[in-house]
Amino acid sequence: MRAILLLSCCVLMLPAQRQGRQPRPIPANLPETNPSTSAQDVEAGRKLYMGRCGHCHGQSGEGGRGAVLNSGRFRHGSSDRDLFLIIRGGIPNTEMPGAFGVSDAEVWRMTAYVKQLGRQGAQDPITGDATAGAIVYQKNGCAQCHSVAGQGGFLGPDLTDIGAKRAPRHLRESIVTPSADVPLDYRPVAATTVAGKSISGIHLNEDEYALHLRDMSGNLRSFLKSELKDIKLSGTSLMPAYTSLSKADLENLIAYLDSLRPKAEATVWLFDRIENIGGHRTTVLGQPRVIDSPFGKAVEFDGVKDALFIDNHPLAGATTFTWEVIFRPDGGQTEQRWFHLSEQDPRTGADTDNRMLFEIRVVGDQWFLDSFNQSGTASRALMNRKALHPLGDWRHVATVYDGKELRNYVDGVQEGAAQLHLAPHGQGHSSVGVRINRVYYFKGAVHLARFTRRALSPSEFLAPPGKP
Ligand code: HEC
Ligand code: HEC
Repeated sequence: MRAILLLSCCVLMLPAQRQGRQPRPIPANLPETNPSTSAQDVEAGRKLYMGRCGHCHGQSGEGGRGAVLNSGRFRHGSSDRDLFLIIRGGIPNTEMPGAFGVSDAEVWRMTAYVKQLGRQGAQDPITGDATAGAIVYQKNGCAQCHSVAGQGGFLGPDLTDIGAKRAPRHLRESIVTPSADVPLDYRPVAATTVAGKSISGIHLNEDEYALHLRDMSGNLRSFLKSELKDIKLSGTSLMPAYTSLSKADLENLIAYLDSLRPKAEATVWLFDRIENIGGHRTTVLGQPRVIDSPFGKAVEFDGVKDALFIDNHPLAGATTFTWEVIFRPDGGQTEQRWFHLSEQDPRTGADTDNRMLFEIRVVGDQWFLDSFNQSGTASRALMNRKALHPLGDWRHVATVYDGKELRNYVDGVQEGAAQLHLAPHGQGHSSVGVRINRVYYFKGAVHLARFTRRALSPSEFLAPPGKP
């Protein structure tokens, strides 16, 4: 009987697992925007979420085994369509499963609820500096109890990927009022032996005969209950409350913890604010404005003096890459260098010649794309003067390098290609709205950029924005 049950269970499991590895086909006529967003849809989505997702992503989307969903930042894409496809199909090679056995209508309802979760934390930006925060972390002895990438102690949770798991709000609370929310697997316990010795630590488990705990030095300890006079569980965290950190130190520490993420294959920069893009320190030139686009916020540049300088080269070290941007060119001067990634000399901080650029040329009421890439003596501009597009529309553009060939695309359609060898760039910084030396300003708006450390095929690109 048992064997038969086991067998039938395995037969049932197999197709699901196979499906799990292969992306489900995208339904025909998949809408760009969610058709199910009424209050009833959101409520139905919430119920489905609680049953299927809450144990990994937290009941309020605060994250746990799954990613934070209430911070307003979705690494894998934030449009309705992206979220639908992620929830429906899962994310290959991660713990994120597809929602199998759920109708598309139900997936749209969950999408509506996840979108709503995402809006909750949108007011919670990272304002500190991660590098300064790493020093705060060192100085305050956090590593006595926590490990990051294998370095440090074991009493508290491993923080290696904490930024991907927890929202800034939760991180702040964990530091200032650790006792507010002590996870069940970190409950403090104090045991007193019959001989009168007392040992404190984290309660690991307990049965009729024995108690297992991790003591304050991180060692596992077991006691027979017959040796113990008293066992006291407490709700007060073993982590000291860091109430006397200055505001700046605390915010820097939060920025540092937030930066601790799995070495993600893809990084998304959302242009939904100007003071901080992609979690990096950002310098503002002129008065770029945050505007509403059909898919969320975007930053608009005036073509004369507006620009953002971002303290990061998101493709430094990449041997292959895909650089995608959703933007809207609005006119302005003929030559525009609107997104520039530049390597810097680590000794002087000066820009080297190694750079990656998105440029456009404006021709009447149309434009064409120019993708310029240089590394060492290899350089190439990909531009097709005949591939003209009307100004004023939102577009998806991409530059892809697979280690041999550089290609560029507008709305997933290839416009240019060239064979060359581009060595990886060193660390550097980026400018948006102007070339890094402040010439050739951009008139238009940028919604989002995604950087992936491998060559994506056009079918893997972010969905091109629907034309208005
Ligand atoms: C077994 C745990 C688990 C379950 C169950 C689960 N997820 Fe996930 N989910 C993850 C993990 C882990 C990630 C992060 C994957 C990565 O990027 O490495 C993730 C990522 C996501 C993302 C992308 C987040 C981003 O930053 O782009 C969304 C959206 C999401 N999950 C929604 C859901 C929804 C809705 C459900 C329920 C239908 C669900 N998940 C069920 C573990 C889970
Ligand atoms: C004496 C040991 C100890 C020290 C020192 C310590 N912690 Fe903790 N920490 C813990 C324990 C135990 C927990 C788990 C219980 C809890 O959440 O309060 C914890 C929890 C946390 C969490 C929440 C983790 C999660 O998964 O939600 C964060 C974040 C954190 N600590 C950061 C820090 C930082 C930053 C410092 C230094 C400023 C620090 N800790 C110093 C013991 C310590």
